[in-house]
Amino acid sequence: MYVCICNALRDKELSEAARGGARTVADAFRRCGRRPQCGKCLPDVADIIEEARGDAPAIAAE
Ligand code: FES
Repeated sequence: MYVCICNALRDKELSEAARGGARTVADAFRRCGRRPQCGKCLPDVADIIEEARGDAPAIAAE
């Protein structure tokens, strides 16, 4: 499923980035080789990171 329409970024890619060590939304985008644009997807991206890592909130930008 596409999570970030601006970047055609799928939940699977974001989960892999989180399992690979991404701790923040910004880090997940970086690991996927993309940059946030409109920002509408950021809360959903944070949720996916949290779920994949099973730890603290990932909303803090870095
Ligand atoms: S939908 Fe992700 S930055 Fe626009």
